[in-house]
Amino acid sequence: MTSSAAPILITGAGQRVGLHCAQRLLEDGHRVIFSYRSERPGVQTLRDLGAIGLFADFSSEAGIVTFISQLKTHTDSLRAIIHNASEWLAETTDTDAAAFTRMFNVHMLAPYLINLHCADLLERSSPADIVHISDDVTRKGSSKHIGYCASKAGLDSLTLSFAARYAPGIKVNTIAPALLLFNANDDAAYRAKALAKSALGIEPGSEVIYQSLRYLLDNPYVTGTTLTVNGGRHIK
Ligand SMILES: NC(=O)c1ccc[n+]([C@@H]2O[C@H](COP(=O)([O-])OP(=O)(O)OC[C@H]3O[C@@H](n4cnc5c(N)ncnc54)[C@H](OP(=O)(O)O)[C@@H]3O)[C@@H](O)[C@H]2O)c1
Repeated sequence: MTSSAAPILITGAGQRVGLHCAQRLLEDGHRVIFSYRSERPGVQTLRDLGAIGLFADFSSEAGIVTFISQLKTHTDSLRAIIHNASEWLAETTDTDAAAFTRMFNVHMLAPYLINLHCADLLERSSPADIVHISDDVTRKGSSKHIGYCASKAGLDSLTLSFAARYAPGIKVNTIAPALLLFNANDDAAYRAKALAKSALGIEPGSEVIYQSLRYLLDNPYVTGTTLTVNGGRHIK
């Protein structure tokens, strides 16, 4: 059981990986503030467990700035910021610029502005962490999801720059997962193909991200790194 007076902020925690990690942080004794965009059952679950939920839409600068202002009315310190919110949008000729801009805003502009404008909150906690949840796909690029991959690669770059700027008080790291959870509508052929891409060949679920998060929060000698959680995709 770990406890810290300052809460941990996790973005996009109404479902899936974010919800699981928020619940596990609460179980470990942390106070949690989370962002959500859709009023899903998980949002109420977290509220019932004592977390503070704040609406946020990171698809525009205005939405990001509004969220930061809201956040500051709830706390003047943060133990950590976990940037988990993500959009995985199709890029068609009709929507390519809009999709790219949205993913840039969610994956890069939101972490960039939140990290800059909430550094003072993190400085009131020791230790303090920023964790960017990126994607293993940035290792090799993606011919089908160019904007998603590029915006997550930009997030990887933010890790290096913020780690340098904020050392030694705030550690900044990336977790780069490959397949964690299938979507409900993924068919059998897609599932088989995705599983075959990794050496370990499993759908691991969200707990592997919590284990990675725990490692980064607890380790005092790791900053500016990427923790790859990909089942050995790079060796297959
Ligand atoms: N799942 C995987 O297999 C996998 C693989 C590689 C990397 N990852 C990364 O791991 C993280 C968690 O994955 P996941 O599958 O759990 O993510 P997810 O369910 O696709 O998305 C997480 C949350 O992001 C929020 N979000 C999306 N657009 C937003 C916006 N414009 N403003 C504010 N919030 C927004 C959504 O909030 P609402 O639900 O409230 O709308 C959503 O619940 C993500 O960063 C993802 O890129 C996941």
